[in-house]
Amino acid sequence: MKDYDVIIIGSGPGGYVCAIRCAQLGLKTACVESKETLGGTCLNIGCIPSKALLHASELFEETNHKFSKLGIVTGKASVNWEKMLDYKSDIVNQNTKGIEFLFKKNKIDVIKGWGSIKEPGVIEVNGKTFNSKSIIIATGSEPSQLKGVNIDEETIVSSTGALSLKKIPKSMIIVGAGVIGLELGSVYSRLGTNVTVIEYLDEITPGLDKETAKFFRRILSKQGIKFILGAAVQSTKKLGNNNVVNYLLKGSEKISKINSEIILVSTGRKPFTKGLKLKEVGIEINQQGQIVTDKNLKTNVAGIYAIGDVISGPMLAHKAEDEGIAIAEMLAGQAGHLNYDTIPSVIYTSPEVAFVGKTEEQLKKENKDYKVGKFSFMGNGRAKAALAADGFVKILSDKYSDRILGGHIIGPAAGDLIHEICVAMEFGASAEDLARTCHAHPTFSEAVREAALACGDGAIHS
Ligand code: NAI
Repeated sequence: MKDYDVIIIGSGPGGYVCAIRCAQLGLKTACVESKETLGGTCLNIGCIPSKALLHASELFEETNHKFSKLGIVTGKASVNWEKMLDYKSDIVNQNTKGIEFLFKKNKIDVIKGWGSIKEPGVIEVNGKTFNSKSIIIATGSEPSQLKGVNIDEETIVSSTGALSLKKIPKSMIIVGAGVIGLELGSVYSRLGTNVTVIEYLDEITPGLDKETAKFFRRILSKQGIKFILGAAVQSTKKLGNNNVVNYLLKGSEKISKINSEIILVSTGRKPFTKGLKLKEVGIEINQQGQIVTDKNLKTNVAGIYAIGDVISGPMLAHKAEDEGIAIAEMLAGQAGHLNYDTIPSVIYTSPEVAFVGKTEEQLKKENKDYKVGKFSFMGNGRAKAALAADGFVKILSDKYSDRILGGHIIGPAAGDLIHEICVAMEFGASAEDLARTCHAHPTFSEAVREAALACGDGAIHS
């Protein structure tokens, strides 16, 4: 039996980042992980492999559809799917090995196996017990199941199966127009699959600023993705080599049907707490299955904390990382810092979509007087040169104080550009502060400055 200051259960972005910061701050740290490799969903079957496939498929698409416009002459490019999957696995491998290296460097013990909480201060893994002053639950999330749909990870898949299909399918139906559906839908659509997305709501990407969502849907439609909106998927059925999806359109009582080779179910994720023995220890869970924590990430049981997808808030790797760092700092006697108002969200499609803070819809609901500064990438020379001028930056600022309340970007490098707005918001900046900051020319980021200028006396290039 070995004693620790902190034992973290789960080595995803929340858990591993927390472990590293705990160790850096002088706490004796261990991390429990049941899987062969470290890194959790994000590194193994989520963010990283999907970004690899998004990158490869985007270059493939550009080779066949953009290169000729740039004066680059190639033959028609084709895909070697096996090699593309190998490349994806190699990237995953490099990343998970990187975490192993960082754990060794920081002298963090990895306890392999399924962790359960025996009692406050005691963890059990494979029949062995480990004592720890603090326990941090960072066990993440798993795909939600849809009633009437049986995921086999072969032809009816979650994101996990969709990242390792045996071949590029001819057709794919995606249930749910959220982040996973649109990112993986983009991958397969670019590779030649006939993709149809069925979404329960009247617009794609719930929570996204409405104007941006509508613009985004139009672009994806132009790229060949079909949408059936206002449709609730009821069930699926195997039919020879195909699958049938039964869905109900809003206002209709008659079931509609559509066939495809593969069905991807991306209707959200739910907290993963299997085997932790939370009930036995008396840890409070809410109706969504999330572990209830206070603002300092404490559960109702002394010495036990939770971070990331298992608690409330957006299911985002970087939100979990921030919580991991904050709790490590608090356990080491520091203040810890968390600001849920400046967490960016990014959809890694082409173009990328990124946002932070409030949407117009939220501000209207809050009866807040606000200004809108909007700038199209059509007025940005760099975006034009890159043939990537479809999109805009929209900054929302307080009508009286000019303080930035939200930023919404659809366009080239949106996922990187958004951080300028995040930093500005973190420091309580006004749109004018951003507009008065010199931006290099020619860069995509000039579009952010122009949107900030549009909150005041007007953008220059529109
Ligand atoms: P989501 O919550 O983003 O979207 C699910 C969609 O499915 C919703 O639009 C919902 O209305 C729809 N839906 C639910 N039931 C339905 C039914 N029966 N028929 C038709 N439509 C239905 O969920 P998603 O895409 O599975 O993502 C899960 C989580 O993973 C999210 O929290 C997301 O933020 C996170 N994630 C983030 C990524 C990123 O930051 N780039 C990448 C991938 C996932």
